[in-house]
Parts: sequence; C-alpha cells; structure tokens
Amino acid sequence: MGPEKDDGRCEVPTESRGCELKHKMSSLVHTETSLSDKMTDSWELDLIKLSQEAMGKAYCPYSKFPVGAALLTTDGKVFTGCNVENACSNLGLCAERVAVNKAVSEGYRNFKAIAVCSEVVDTYITPCGGCRQVLLEFGQTWIVLMSKPDLSYEKRTVVDLIPMPFVLKIRD
Ligand code: THU
Repeated sequence: MGPEKDDGRCEVPTESRGCELKHKMSSLVHTETSLSDKMTDSWELDLIKLSQEAMGKAYCPYSKFPVGAALLTTDGKVFTGCNVENACSNLGLCAERVAVNKAVSEGYRNFKAIAVCSEVVDTYITPCGGCRQVLLEFGQTWIVLMSKPDLSYEKRTVVDLIPMPFVLKIRD
C-alpha cells in the first residue's frame, strides 16, 4: 500500500477527471469497450476523453503524476490504461504500456491510435522513451494523440516520436 490514501489512488483534481467532462462518458466496466458505444462525432476527442477517464484510476502515490491512455484498435475496440507505480520504483508501469499489454493479452495487436493525457496544463504529455519503443513494436505509422486537460492535442505517428527506430533483424 502506498503512502497516500487507503485505496492507493492519487488525488486527481475533479476538473481534470474524465467523469467531470461536459460530454460525460459512462464508466468503463470491462477490459475493453467498443468504438461504436463510445465514439461520437470526433473519435480523436473521444479517445482523449477516455484516456482522461482512465487517468482517474492512476495509482501514483510516489510521483503524484497521474497519466491516462486509451488505445484504439483497427477494429474499433478501446483499451485503457493508467500508470501503476510500486514501492520498488523500477516495477512501476506507464499508462501506455498498461493499455498495450491489456490489448495484446486479449488478442489485439493492430492499433489505429493511442491517446495519452496528464494533468499538466501548459505542455502536451509525451510518451517516455521506453513507451515509444513499446508502441513501435506494433507498427511505425499509427497515431499518437498527446493531450492537455483542456482536450487540445498534438497528433503524431509513432515513428515521428522515435526516428531511426531500432528494429530487430533476426538472422535466418
Ligand atoms: N508515465 C506514464 O505513465 N507515461 C509516460 O509516458 C510518462 C510517464 C508515468 C510513470 C510514472 O508513474 C509517472 O508518470 C512519473 O514519471
């Protein structure tokens, strides 16, 4: 159990929680949800809102830096993630990797986009180097949406974020 609260969650100011958004989205109760259930006019904004909802579940008693992610598969499923820290700091997981691991472990490997959010208001949250390599594992040209709490965002491809990528060449 971390040092902060009994339930282990960081305080996330209510104004940045997904559940406080004007276009409230119902809680995610399953591992995955469906694009058609969740997406309205702009799928990019809706994916960011889902990442904000996931950020509300961040377990970050050490950094107090909640992060959320929402990963959209090419067939319209969404897998969310939040950072999950640990007293042994190198065992902590980033939000993006939680989302990717959830998707892959459910049999999904083809991704259209991932939205990432934090509470930082003046800069877009960008995936850490390790997460960039993990995203690269599943393709170079899919989309990364890096957002601010006000739903503004920067849109890039995975390879934009990790130029000259390492790709393992296996000898025959
Ligand atoms: N974090 C993420 O979840 N994703 C990133 O891309 C950057 C960093 C988390 C890890 C740690 O729990 C906290 O943010 C502070 O580094």
